[in-house]
Amino acid sequence: MYITLKETLKEADELNMAIGAFNTHNLEMLPAIIKAAVNQKTPVIIQTSCGTANYVGHKNLVAVCRSMADEYGINVVLHLDHAKDFDEIRKAIDAGYSSVMFDGSSLPLKENILGTKRVVDYAKLHNVSVEAELGTVGGTEDGIAVAQEDVRYTEPEDAVNFIKETGIDALAVAIGTNHGQYKSKTNLNFDRLKEIHNAVNIPLVIHGGTGVKEKDVKRVINLGIRKFNVGTELLVEWNRKSKECYEEHRENISNRENVVPCLDIITEIVEHKIHLFKNLDN
Ligand code: 13P
Repeated sequence: MYITLKETLKEADELNMAIGAFNTHNLEMLPAIIKAAVNQKTPVIIQTSCGTANYVGHKNLVAVCRSMADEYGINVVLHLDHAKDFDEIRKAIDAGYSSVMFDGSSLPLKENILGTKRVVDYAKLHNVSVEAELGTVGGTEDGIAVAQEDVRYTEPEDAVNFIKETGIDALAVAIGTNHGQYKSKTNLNFDRLKEIHNAVNIPLVIHGGTGVKEKDVKRVINLGIRKFNVGTELLVEWNRKSKECYEEHRENISNRENVVPCLDIITEIVEHKIHLFKNLDN
C-alpha cells in the first residue's frame, strides 16, 4: 500500500527497527530501490529533493510509487526531503506525496517552530506526515554546504518544546552525522541521542546515513532511530558503475546496457542496508 511516514514508523517502532529512506535522483533508480524492499519484505521510504521532484515531475513519482506498492504488495512512502520553501512543500502535497520534511534547521528556533507549524497545518488537512529538523546536520546536501562551525547538536529540551508546539510526526536529529560523507565514517554522539530519546516520544530520524559505521546501526536503532536516510552511497556507486559502462560499451548500444548494471548495484546496496535496519540479532 501507498502509506504515510507516520504509519510506517509506528510499525517500525513496534518492531524496534528502522525503515530505510533512500534518495532517488531520477526515475530509473526508483524501481531498483523498491525491488530491494520487496526482496527484503519490508516497507520502504522513497525520498526526493525538491530538485529531483521538479526534474522528474511530482505526479510521475507518486504514480510509480503507488503502482509498485500495489503490484508488489509492499508499503511505500514517498517523502519530500529537506524542503525549505512552503510552496515547494505545497506542490508535493498537492501532487500526492505522503510525507514531507520542512527543514528550518538554519532558522532561529522560534522561526523554525512557526515554519514547521505552518507545514503541519497544511499537511494534516491532506493526511500527509511531517518530519522536521532541530539542530544542524553537517556536510553537503543537493549542493548546499553546512560549514563545520555551523553544526549544532540537537538540544533535548528544545526538542520536547518543538514537538509540543508543532505536532510533527518525526524528528531529524543532529548527533554528529554529515550529509554526503562517503570517504570516511563519522563518530556519533550516542549520549546525546540517548538524552533526546529519553526526552521525546516520537520517531527519530538519522540523516547522513552513508557516513554511519555499520557497527553503529544497531546501537542507534536501539536508541530510537526509526527512519534511516541514505543517499550519497547510492549516488556514488551509480556514478562509478555508469562511468565504467559508458567507457566500455560502443556508442550505439542500447542504453539499457549502461543503466541496468547500475540498477543492480542500487538494489544490492539497498538490500544490504535494509537488512541492517531490520535490527535482527545476527
Ligand atoms: P547521505 O547522502 O549522506 O547518505 O544522507 C542522506 C540524507 O540524509 C538525506 O536527507
